Amino acid sequence: MRTPLIAGNWKMNGSAALVEEFGHAFAEARLPASLDVAVLPPFPYLDAARRAFEGTPLRLGAQTLNPLHSGAHTGEVSGRMLREFGVEYALAGHSERRQLYREGDEAVLDRLLAALNVGITPILCVGETLEERDAGQTMDVVLRQVGYVMARLEPDQRSRVVIAYEPVWAIGTGRTATPQQAQEVMAGIRQYQAGFDRELAAGLRLLYGGSMNASNAAELLAQPDIDGGLVGGASLKVDDFLAICQSAG
Ligand code: G3H
Repeated sequence: MRTPLIAGNWKMNGSAALVEEFGHAFAEARLPASLDVAVLPPFPYLDAARRAFEGTPLRLGAQTLNPLHSGAHTGEVSGRMLREFGVEYALAGHSERRQLYREGDEAVLDRLLAALNVGITPILCVGETLEERDAGQTMDVVLRQVGYVMARLEPDQRSRVVIAYEPVWAIGTGRTATPQQAQEVMAGIRQYQAGFDRELAAGLRLLYGGSMNASNAAELLAQPDIDGGLVGGASLKVDDFLAICQSAG
């Protein structure tokens, strides 16, 4: 019932050559029939990616966006601009934005609303730090991050949100959450949403992120509440990313 989504977040990595490589590889690739795949390259590669990905299953995503449409905001990019380049997904609240750029829940909500307002599917990222996990606060932290945003959306907006659970301690560390750890938190997110709207919760797409790779993806994606992955490092190698996509069938 829920179409799996694999999203490759290149972060501040990649090149024009990598864009071409992905375009060629995915033009030939055999993927599961029911699967959405997106690549989120740095902004300068969006236009080349749009062209290179034409006729392939790859869709485009953005790593962030400014909440405003336009104005005197040096260095920023708006959702309206991203739409012009065919962007269909955008992250909001990635832990690197929360930590390195001090984006709190309110800033995350603004970005997520900006995406929704221009027809971009937002991927809300949530997750606990190692200290929070060790202190037994995982569910409190995750549900606060989810709840802050979801409580402020209209029902039709809520149903368009994808949520990515990314334990901060698993991001870029090679230390993946076990399938059981990930499943437990993600089932908790779905149950929490079901407390407000059972139908919405049943359709909510939940992605796991944090050192997902070609070797561990299948087991993670087999969990009942994991509907896909938000992949960082392994999305920079076309063979690995393809293998992850293939294991989502
Ligand atoms: O957006 C992706 C996540 O931060 C995961 O990154 O796969 O390199 O751990 P990673």
